[in-house]
Amino acid sequence: MRKDVINSRVHKEDGMAKPKLLSTHKLFEAPRKLLNEHFDVDYWEKPGRPPRAEVLARVADKEALICLLTEKVNDELLDAAPKLRIVSNVAVGFDNIDVAACTRRKIVATNTPGVLDETTADFAWTLLMAVARRLIEGDQLTRSGAWAGWNLDQLCGGDVWGKTLGLVGFGRIGRAVARRAAGFGMRILYNDAIPVAPEVAKQLNAEFVERDKLFAEADFVSVHVPLLPETRHLISAAQLAKMKRTAYLINTSRGPVVDEAALVAALQTGEIAGAALDVYENEPKVHHGLVGRKDVVLAPHIASASVETRTKMAMMAVENCVARFGGKKPPNALNPEVL
Ligand code: GLV
Repeated sequence: MRKDVINSRVHKEDGMAKPKLLSTHKLFEAPRKLLNEHFDVDYWEKPGRPPRAEVLARVADKEALICLLTEKVNDELLDAAPKLRIVSNVAVGFDNIDVAACTRRKIVATNTPGVLDETTADFAWTLLMAVARRLIEGDQLTRSGAWAGWNLDQLCGGDVWGKTLGLVGFGRIGRAVARRAAGFGMRILYNDAIPVAPEVAKQLNAEFVERDKLFAEADFVSVHVPLLPETRHLISAAQLAKMKRTAYLINTSRGPVVDEAALVAALQTGEIAGAALDVYENEPKVHHGLVGRKDVVLAPHIASASVETRTKMAMMAVENCVARFGGKKPPNALNPEVL
């Protein structure tokens, strides 16, 4: 935890009213303790997310909001919260926040970058291995009682070692995925709007290629871009058609980066071998065309969900709020120009 943040005093004198904060989650013990020291906190304590009407009503008298990526922070919410000075998202992705709308109202928006890279990369690999080696089908067969014993052609998947990994997006998470590929002796291709410095690419043994080449040559395409207008449906029918019939798609970024209907069609026609997804276009809805398929692995948006990492994310979100009211720049301000 950052000492300068902890040491900053939110309320100047003991007894002075603490700023009112709404947290749409009860958080974990350590971040909750820190938050309670500095704020008068209204927690959503129940399981699941609060209904929208509840958020709009409770945020009305709050100066700070800690929210999850499931909360749409748009004009509707901001209009309902005239006293708000910070929106602290417990996530690195912030496509749920209209940052420009926050800026217009001089509200700081913050996110939680950096602390979840390794955990998310671990999970991209979990998905990759699970789909290639048919782990979920194997688990189901083993539990079902129908397993008749070892057989030569049983649940044969695709090899991972020695194959080509294609990383779409080569930021912190994409590079953490690349580091893990070294142990599998893989060739690594990447595409990003801005290629990394040659020494970084060399260290990771990664080669920058145009997107079309990446899709044509990769055995595993793993997606690591933020959701932006220009990345929506980046993985389209046209891109899927370029992939090898033996290749797999892995997505731990944001659902709308993949055209889900096109993905279902590509799986149905055997254009690709399989997909492993942690995120969906209309969460928590999952395209009905995916649900019944054996060649897909479906996870409920849990790539960063280790106890350690989720606790760090919540702590970071709290620290951003503490800094805001302690007269410091929140370390992860997305629109520092409002300060
Ligand atoms: C999770 O999806 C995040 O953006 O942190």
